Amino acid sequence: MSDLKRVLSEAVEAAFAELGLPPELGRVTASDRPDLADFQSNGALAAAKRVGKNPRELAAAVAERLAGDPRLAAVEIAGPGFINLKLTDAALSARAQQIAADPRLGAETVAEPRRVLVDYGGPNVAKPMHVGHLRASIIGEAIKRIYRFRGDEVLGDAHFGDWGYQMGLLIGAVMDEKPAVAAIVEALNAGETAETPEDVGAAFDTVSLADLDRLYPKAAAKGKTDTDYRDRARKITAALQDRQPGYFALWQRFRDVTQVALERDFHALGVDFDLWKGESDVEDLIDPMVAELDAKGLLVDDQGARIIRVSREGDKKQLPPLLVVSSEGSAMYGTTDLATILDRRKSFDPALIIYCVDQRQADHFEIVFRAAYLAGYAGEGSLEHVGFGTMNGTDGKPFKTREGGVLKLNDMIELTREKARERLHEAGLGENLPAEAFEDIAGKVAVAALKFADLQNFRGTSYVFDLDRFTSFEGKTGPYLLYQAVRVKSILRRAESEGVTPGPITISEPAERELTLTLDGFETALAEAYDKKAPNAVAEHAYRLSQAFSKFYAACPILQAEPAVRASRLALAATALAQLERALDVLGIAVPERM
Ligand code: ARG
Repeated sequence: MSDLKRVLSEAVEAAFAELGLPPELGRVTASDRPDLADFQSNGALAAAKRVGKNPRELAAAVAERLAGDPRLAAVEIAGPGFINLKLTDAALSARAQQIAADPRLGAETVAEPRRVLVDYGGPNVAKPMHVGHLRASIIGEAIKRIYRFRGDEVLGDAHFGDWGYQMGLLIGAVMDEKPAVAAIVEALNAGETAETPEDVGAAFDTVSLADLDRLYPKAAAKGKTDTDYRDRARKITAALQDRQPGYFALWQRFRDVTQVALERDFHALGVDFDLWKGESDVEDLIDPMVAELDAKGLLVDDQGARIIRVSREGDKKQLPPLLVVSSEGSAMYGTTDLATILDRRKSFDPALIIYCVDQRQADHFEIVFRAAYLAGYAGEGSLEHVGFGTMNGTDGKPFKTREGGVLKLNDMIELTREKARERLHEAGLGENLPAEAFEDIAGKVAVAALKFADLQNFRGTSYVFDLDRFTSFEGKTGPYLLYQAVRVKSILRRAESEGVTPGPITISEPAERELTLTLDGFETALAEAYDKKAPNAVAEHAYRLSQAFSKFYAACPILQAEPAVRASRLALAATALAQLERALDVLGIAVPERM
């Protein structure tokens, strides 16, 4: 079932072909001047250049061939040779009807579904998530859903950072602060089993997420300046990766306490992963991989470390090599990424892996991808880094709290919820609902506010964190869209209670035409979002759809109209709602039943 743009493109392309012109030039797009036309084709201009003819004359010849098309109410030439197309009400009615009856609401699926893995979120064990992980989670979740809705088989993986140098840093810092823990770790490392599991448990229970949270930034800072401290952390990291029992046991405690908090934060944000794999999960693959890379002649010794050189001739800037094994014998961030590619190939064999990670890691991924291609671990082009800009404060720098620290994700969600409650009260919404229902709505408003504020921008663009604006029920915001959707739901409920049922759709009013054309644009928006990994195309569509609905609802009364019109408009409203909810759903935004 094709959208109107495709159907009309085919008609214009056929006319071009009949005239001996390159058919692909006939492609139509939505009109720049919706007051004059629904669609336009600019192809006559390009065609005229190629064949050396007058563009207006070519356009007229095309128009003549299209004139008999029963779907077209008007074909006009404008300006230097634009072909303007206006559809008949009947053609629009048929399309609206088609979308209404389609469980996919007018959206198509890809011709050849692929297996795609989306690596996103990227939280780190033993460090609470901060706003930097917010965008990775929001954008990655949307991309995963868009791909899945287009028909691909998609898995989302959080790829926990649980195995690198930061683990060695933290183990050292916790042992420095808690002698009882240190004693047990050392005993276990030495192979002593004097302590009962209860004693071990009791000591490790004193290690909380708050401790890790407090100790990590200090340890990281100290590791930057104090070389002894850094060397020790590196040694501990290498020993952990060798599974020294004491370090390993403490590390497991870190993982456990972190997991609880992570699950809570992701849940609150409406983000869910199919795989909760960590860097540590590929540990067993690393030694054989290193041996294999060595056998392939890719490893180079570099001052005790082992690296893979990835720079290519013609590179604009010099890319550093991939550090595979550090001089302490540790696997590095990129090593686990490389091994994870092998792991994913074995378990899922994806045709594409999308890494939805901060733009600042672009070089890291370029280096890993090149190494993977060199090693034959992935087909050229099957690994893609989908980067994004930062969320900034009003000072234009990456967002910080008033105290200058990073805002934890959990605190940000709480802050947004609080603001959402305030906004709901201001607007007199949800007032007479039970407390639990009100909280559910506040949660949905908060998620919609954060997600839509992010997804409405192209991901590469940085934006400013502005909670007042994000949570407003007016303007281009998540809460506005939820409010619109809920309003349609209440209209539909009222219709139902009055016994009004939807019927065949007949389009006649300008606002009905506009709404139908907007509904028809869903496919274009999704295809763009898919091809460019750009959820903002769907966000834009959702916003336009709710505006078109507003205009329609203002101009075309539903329940007061005579029966056939009423049934038609009701069906149109229900379709608009279904598509809006679907669009929001692929963005990871849930709509409440009422407000
Ligand atoms: N944990 C990393 C960080 O916080 C992000 C992980 C991204 N994914 C990957 N495959 N490297 O920076």
